[in-house]
Amino acid sequence: MTEPATKDSFRVVHYRGKQFTIPVFSTEEPIVFTPDAALNTVAIDKGSPVIQMLNTDWDLRNFKTPRRPVSLGILPLDEQVLMAASLGAPRTLDLPIKFPGSNIMRIPRALAQAAPSCRRAANFAIAANPQGYFNAYCYLTFDQGIVQPGMLQREAPCHVDGFQGARWKPKKRNNFSFTVSNVVPTAYYIQPFDFDELDEAVHNFFWEMNRQVALTNSEFAWQPEEYELTLMDCYSVHRGMPVPGNIPLFRTFERISFEERIFDRLGNAHNPLFDYDWEMVPRDIEELNLVAFDPTCDPSLRVFPHQDADGKPLPKGQKTQPKLK
Ligand SMILES: [Fe+2]
Repeated sequence: MTEPATKDSFRVVHYRGKQFTIPVFSTEEPIVFTPDAALNTVAIDKGSPVIQMLNTDWDLRNFKTPRRPVSLGILPLDEQVLMAASLGAPRTLDLPIKFPGSNIMRIPRALAQAAPSCRRAANFAIAANPQGYFNAYCYLTFDQGIVQPGMLQREAPCHVDGFQGARWKPKKRNNFSFTVSNVVPTAYYIQPFDFDELDEAVHNFFWEMNRQVALTNSEFAWQPEEYELTLMDCYSVHRGMPVPGNIPLFRTFERISFEERIFDRLGNAHNPLFDYDWEMVPRDIEELNLVAFDPTCDPSLRVFPHQDADGKPLPKGQKTQPKLK
C-alpha cells in the first residue's frame, strides 16, 4: 500500500512524451458516507435506454439505440456555488472512492466540494440499481481550470466513457457515469451509431463516431443545462464543446463513474482512504495503432487532437478539432 500522506501534495509522472501531475491526498478529515435510496428524489425512468442498460454487459449493438442522458435535475444553488468555487482542488482523474463489496464512499478532504454531487449521484445509483452499485467501483474525476475561447477543457474526439475494446474478453458490465459542469456542458449525440462493419482490433471507433456525427452535421447534438447532473452510459456518444465567445471561462467538470473494472491507467489518482496497491500501467489509445474505418473521410475526423491533418504532432498547445458540421 502507498504510504498515506498527512498533507496534500503532487507527484509528476512522464511517459511517451506526456506528463501527468498526480495528486497525493491526505487522510485527514475525509468525507465518508453511505448513500441511501430513500434520499433519492428523482424518478427512475424505466423506459430510458440508459436505465435499461443497468446490470447488463457490454454489447456493441446497443449503439444502435439513441439515448439521451438521464437528468437528475439542476443542482441546488448552494451546491452550484460550491462546485464552481476555486478552492485549490487538484486535477483528479478516476480516483476510486468506492470499492466493490461495500456501499461506503470515501472522499479526500481536498475534494470536499465534489461530495454533495457524489452523494446525490450515489443516492440515485443505489435506488436504481442496488446490486450493481454494491458490485461496482466508483471513480471520481474532478477537473477545474481556465479554458480559453475556442478551446476545450478536455480535448477529445467524439467518444464514450467505458469503451470495452479488443482486450476485454469476455465483456464486462456496462459503465455508468454521472457528470456535471458549471459552464459549457458536454454535447451528446442522440442518434443511432452502426458499427456492424468495424473490427474492434483494427478500427478506431472514436474516429468512426466522429464520422457518423459529421454525416448528420451534428443535427442530433444535445446539451444539458449548466449545473444539470446527468447520467450517461457507455453507449452515450459525447464530446466537450469549445468555449464560445471571446472571454476565458473558469470551468469545473465532475464525473462520478460506476465500473466493474480496475482503472489502473498511469496518471489516475490513488485514494489513501482505501487499502489497495494497483500496478499503474502506461496505457493510451495511440499504442493500439487503430486505423480509420473510412480512410477517405475528412482528415480532422481521423487524427488525434495532438496531431495535424497528416497525423504529424502539432506544436504544444495547438489542437485539431474534428469538423463535425
Ligand atoms: Fe467523456
